[in-house]
Amino acid sequence: MAVMKVIALTSALIGVAVAYDIEGMLGAPRRSAAIVNPSGELAFFSSTKYNWTTHKASTTWHVLDIASGNVSKAAFDSGVSEFVFVGPTNTSILYINGTNEEIPGGVTLYTADVLDFKPKLVASLDAPYSGLKATQTEDGGINFIAWSLAYGNNGSAYNPELATIPLSSGQLYDNNFVRHWNIYIAQERQAVFSGRLSPAYGGALSFDGKTKNLLLGINATVTRPESPVAVMGDSGDYDISPNGKTVAFLSKAPELPKANYTASYIYVVPHDGSEIAVAINGPGSTAPEAAKGASAAPKWSPDSTKLAYAQQDGIFYESDRFKLYVAAIDGLEAEVTPVAEYWDSSPSSISWNRDGETLYVGSELHAAVRVWSLPADADADYKPKDFTGPESVVADFAVLPDNSILVSAAASWTSRIYYTISPSTEKKVLFSANEVDPELKGLSPKDVSNFWYPGGDGDMIQCFVYYPSNFDASKKYPWVFNVHGGPQSAQGDNWSTRWNLRLWAEQGFIVTSPQFTGTPSYSQNFTDKIQANWGGTPYEDLVKLFEYVEENISYIDTTNAVAVGASYGGFMMNWIQGHALGRKFKALVSHDGKLNQVGSYGTEELWFIQQDQNGTIWNNRANYERWDPLKYAANFSTPQFVIHNDLDYRLPIAEGIMLFNILQSLGVPSRFLHFPDEGHWVVNRINSLMWHQNIFNWVKHYTQGEALLQDIVITQ
Ligand SMILES: *[C@@H]1O[C@H](CO)[C@@H](O)[C@H](O)[C@H]1NC(C)=O
Ligand SMILES: *[C@@H]1O[C@H](CO)[C@@H](O)[C@H](O)[C@H]1NC(C)=O
Ligand SMILES: *[C@@H]1O[C@H](CO)[C@@H](O)[C@H](O)[C@H]1NC(C)=O
Ligand SMILES: *[C@@H]1O[C@H](CO)[C@@H](O)[C@H](O)[C@H]1NC(C)=O
Ligand SMILES: *[C@@H]1O[C@H](CO)[C@@H](O)[C@H](O)[C@H]1NC(C)=O
Ligand SMILES: *[C@@H]1O[C@H](CO)[C@@H](O)[C@H](O)[C@H]1NC(C)=O
Ligand SMILES: *[C@@H]1O[C@H](CO)[C@@H](O)[C@H](O)[C@H]1NC(C)=O
Ligand SMILES: *[C@@H]1O[C@H](CO)[C@@H](O)[C@H](O)[C@H]1NC(C)=O
Ligand SMILES: *[C@@H]1O[C@H](CO)[C@@H](O)[C@H](O)[C@H]1NC(C)=O
Ligand SMILES: *[C@@H]1O[C@H](CO)[C@@H](O)[C@H](O)[C@H]1NC(C)=O
Ligand SMILES: *[C@@H]1O[C@H](CO)[C@@H](O)[C@H](O)[C@H]1NC(C)=O
Ligand SMILES: *[C@@H]1O[C@H](CO)[C@@H](O)[C@H](O)[C@H]1NC(C)=O
Repeated sequence: MAVMKVIALTSALIGVAVAYDIEGMLGAPRRSAAIVNPSGELAFFSSTKYNWTTHKASTTWHVLDIASGNVSKAAFDSGVSEFVFVGPTNTSILYINGTNEEIPGGVTLYTADVLDFKPKLVASLDAPYSGLKATQTEDGGINFIAWSLAYGNNGSAYNPELATIPLSSGQLYDNNFVRHWNIYIAQERQAVFSGRLSPAYGGALSFDGKTKNLLLGINATVTRPESPVAVMGDSGDYDISPNGKTVAFLSKAPELPKANYTASYIYVVPHDGSEIAVAINGPGSTAPEAAKGASAAPKWSPDSTKLAYAQQDGIFYESDRFKLYVAAIDGLEAEVTPVAEYWDSSPSSISWNRDGETLYVGSELHAAVRVWSLPADADADYKPKDFTGPESVVADFAVLPDNSILVSAAASWTSRIYYTISPSTEKKVLFSANEVDPELKGLSPKDVSNFWYPGGDGDMIQCFVYYPSNFDASKKYPWVFNVHGGPQSAQGDNWSTRWNLRLWAEQGFIVTSPQFTGTPSYSQNFTDKIQANWGGTPYEDLVKLFEYVEENISYIDTTNAVAVGASYGGFMMNWIQGHALGRKFKALVSHDGKLNQVGSYGTEELWFIQQDQNGTIWNNRANYERWDPLKYAANFSTPQFVIHNDLDYRLPIAEGIMLFNILQSLGVPSRFLHFPDEGHWVVNRINSLMWHQNIFNWVKHYTQGEALLQDIVITQ
């Protein structure tokens, strides 16, 4: 019976032209956020394209004329690895050239004008610095900062090409945090360095060859300072004051072990390194007593007197709400004031409007990062308003001279969209990738919608739905039941090259993606509710979604469904495999998911498991056992595709191998795919192509009658 149905359905799908495909999605240009010049006329972005014949990626720079929306090729090429606008005119830049003819492994700094590109070499740097920020000083010189790895013993910049390689490969540890994401932690730490280009004869700039590690001297009793914080930190972790005198950076709490605490502080330090950095929100500071967690997004006001930043309360809770603060800075003294303290939202980026009195902050609501406006001295009850709306996810934005913003955003139907908007003016779209890139042709906002349904605990749950091309609501489609990772991260109408749900839909499915209990951006209480509850309310939310769709959505064939998920979503696949919901699916796909909760301590970020299970394995073992998928192994019976990568140190590969061994031993149809050179995510495009081809084949085999292919290996 089931087979008949599959055949009928497959023929119904024949004739649907698949224009949007895996190679197109992976190879299409990937555009950076836009960099806007000081007069707000020009926006530059890089674009990286992949060639499937040569298997090479190439990057080009483009310029967007903000008034007209015209896009043209920039006057420079990929020899510019990154740049900042600084210097005598509105088109002067300082950039990093990723090569150095004198010092192998070093980089160089050049100045140029973006329009008539005639570069001048101004500095030779001894290590591979990146994350450049710079400002012009009163005398016409330039103060810059950038980060590099630094030696553990003396803090000088670490250049791997010149470093002495030890003969033995062993690495000895006396403390936790042996590895992180996909690296083993070594002796070197990331550090922010400062340097100065002094004004010289004839308008030239001279460099004395010296950079200073601004983290040196911090009293680190337990954890050595590090900024940006590896592995996920970037240049958003530090900022230079517009007058060039002071640098702010964040670093993890030096008095706490870094494997089980998320706490970090914002430090200020003179740009010339003449004094030791001071934590403005650490113990004994003027910051509120309750603020003990991770800090983020330090941003100087235009007049260099104030520093805005965000901080969490929870000392080991990475998904706690970030609250906003403004610190008045005088020398290295700071007076910290909370801003809109009761606002139930978690800002991730901050900018000062040009008047220096208003903040624009990026914060997520209902799975879309939006931009909100609020006074920099907003009182506790102040309710900020967002002015960018839910239609796309804001990746970055730049404030223009008239206090409107240029937004760099994305959505499931466009890998990049640039638009201008302000709290009082309408959105003006300047560029959208789906209108330009042939690979994305035909994608439109109509391909995605969402609905709300009552979840397991009575909360309303938002669920996104993705449709294939030529969707016809009078037909029935097989169903991809997606469960996002995190669990404390939303998966809304966003572009992704890893879980591109619109691409999944194009395989002939309706894809649903519920923002179940624990998902951020629906209130902090909703996020908090997943603690010690991993297989509880979220599972009930999924059961309710299944029932809701069965009763209410006629174009979804609930008898022909597969469930898929990565990370926490992979855990949930393993959990439902042992529970009643698992019997409702033809097949499952779990990528880098957890099988053995009791074995949680094989991971690296201990703060995460200890917060999420509300205790340690030795004090609260029952919490770990309660939501342990392994305990239900006797019930595993739905065909399952297991993917697990060797460099995933968050969820070590034994989780995937264990699962596959059990499925095979039980005689459950199953496959195992691993990439020895990938971590928690599959990033390499060829690997990703193979990942997609094999998974799509698996889900189509079980729902659309496609033959199960052997050995889809990319050979060219
Ligand atoms: C990819 O590279 C090949 C070989 O250099 C070239 O012929 C082809 O035009 C390139 N494809 C694209 C889309 O640029
Ligand atoms: C935009 O580009 C078009 C075609 O290249 C050109 O005709 C037009 O003058 C440009 N507009 C502006 C304002 O630069
Ligand atoms: C980068 O530096 C190399 C020498 O190291 C030089 O050949 C190249 O032209 C430079 N490119 C740019 C854009 O500065
Ligand atoms: C930069 O542009 C702004 C706005 O057009 C203008 O007021 C300012 O004089 C320009 N600055 C320089 C140095 O040209
Ligand atoms: C810092 O230590 C490293 C490793 O011992 C050494 O190679 C380097 O020369 C030292 N740097 C300075 C400035 O002393
Ligand atoms: C460093 O911190 C420890 C513990 O907080 C404190 O006892 C010690 O006095 C500090 N040392 C200096 C030089 O500030
Ligand atoms: C954090 O780890 C340290 C040892 O690295 C330990 O002494 C401390 O009790 C742990 N604290 C928590 C809250 O897990
Ligand atoms: C949107 O997708 C991008 C690219 O995958 C990712 O970096 C970003 O974190 C996502 N943001 C949200 C809010 O989902
Ligand atoms: C969150 O829950 C707590 C108690 O669990 C309650 O006191 C508080 O009012 C809730 N907050 C919101 C914004 O609903
Ligand atoms: C179907 O939708 C209606 C209206 O939204 C809702 O009341 C009902 O609970 C849904 N059915 C199920 C099983 O969720
Ligand atoms: C596991 O399967 C057994 C036997 O079919 C059943 O009694 C039990 O309820 C199942 N457990 C769960 C959690 O579904
Ligand atoms: C977490 O543990 C604390 C203290 O043991 C307890 O009061 C609290 O109710 C627990 N929270 C959850 C969600 O289990």
